[in-house]
Amino acid sequence: MAMAAILAMLVTCVAMISLPMILGAVFESGDGNGVKDNPSLSANSGGSLGITKSDSANQKVWRAGEGASPGSGTSTGSFTPATGSGGGRAGAAAGGLSEGFYGSSCPQVETIIEQQLRVILQADIGQAAGILRIMFHDCFVQGCDASLLLVRPTTEQTATPNNASIRASSLRALDTIKAAIEAVCPGVVSCADTIVLSTKIAVKLSGGPIIPMRTGRRDGLSAASNQTVVNNIPPPTLNITALKQNFQNQGLDSRDLVALSGGHTIGRAHCRFVDPQITPTISTDLNTAFALNLSRICLPANNSIKARQTTHLDFITQNLFDNSYFQNVLSKVAIFHTDAALTNASDTLQLVQLYAQNQPLFFQQFSQSMIKMSQLNILTGQQGEIRKKCTTPNQYLNA
Ligand code: HEM
Repeated sequence: MAMAAILAMLVTCVAMISLPMILGAVFESGDGNGVKDNPSLSANSGGSLGITKSDSANQKVWRAGEGASPGSGTSTGSFTPATGSGGGRAGAAAGGLSEGFYGSSCPQVETIIEQQLRVILQADIGQAAGILRIMFHDCFVQGCDASLLLVRPTTEQTATPNNASIRASSLRALDTIKAAIEAVCPGVVSCADTIVLSTKIAVKLSGGPIIPMRTGRRDGLSAASNQTVVNNIPPPTLNITALKQNFQNQGLDSRDLVALSGGHTIGRAHCRFVDPQITPTISTDLNTAFALNLSRICLPANNSIKARQTTHLDFITQNLFDNSYFQNVLSKVAIFHTDAALTNASDTLQLVQLYAQNQPLFFQQFSQSMIKMSQLNILTGQQGEIRKKCTTPNQYLNA
């Protein structure tokens, strides 16, 4: 208990130091086209693109948050990172994947992706966030089968949680990456693996962990319905019980929920998702001064310009993949109710406090949880197909 109290005090101190920076931050005047600040991207041959701390600078929400049945309850055990690929659907599906899957058929695949991504991220570092979110929205809806990339005969891209929110430019970036892979290894690498490997490399180039993703996924043949997307993608208004239940439905536990929420260390939010936190009244989730700044950017709601406006998710280091998200949550300067809700259960609160203090631990758990997420309901072996173009099932290519 004494150690927990000291940790909590330390977290508060760190958060207090950075708070004025956040409150005084110049907010992005988004155009719906992504994070626009331009960090110094030193060509760094090994790891990240050299993004450092110095670069700081749908309609209505798709489902009310109270409908789900109670979650799994709270665990108060010790919080060492979970090991293995986990239980439930995630664990069961891991079978058909391996680390060297393209070792003989396309050994250059990760090199090709990294070459492409370095160019893409140099032009717009926000693409890393766009691609990470695409992986999340693909894997949570009928598994990691690249169904989100399909535009015909039907598409998930216009489903309520995705419409005008999943970055069109990031979808195009994945098409570009896939075309570069096809030029060297035709008909070999799936779009599902292209999403997962691109996410792995985008996280690495943004300063995050190097995640040992397995490959061998195959592509789905059809997109999910709007209702299936709505049923599976959590809206940002969920309370902690419903949020835990949403993740549990995917075979993901509280550790996964907290670590994966750390993905909000990069990227943007449209004002329509921010508005419920600041109008008609300011949510108790938010620091008041921070909320007033958000109000200046996002209000009045229902204004056509404001509808396209975006804010950063992490106002300290918006393009750096680090653990500042957890400091933001504790300082009440994280954007969504679902971010703040992580402090409303003892198990998730303890994890937020740990990761706010300990970036290596966050990186370790984020890697393990991303691997679990990357194995949700995958197609392997002879299932599905290897799409030539990610937008189109092969049978429709010449139709
Ligand atoms: C825990 C439940 C989650 C909720 C309720 C949630 C909700 C949201 C919302 C509403 C946005 C703003 C989108 C926009 O305005 O265009 C967003 C952005 C984002 N989310 Fe989440 N998210 C969750 C989990 C995750 C997970 C698991 C990841 C990945 C590991 C993730 C990664 C991102 C990223 C990177 C962005 C920024 C996207 C961009 O800049 O284009 N989120 N999220």
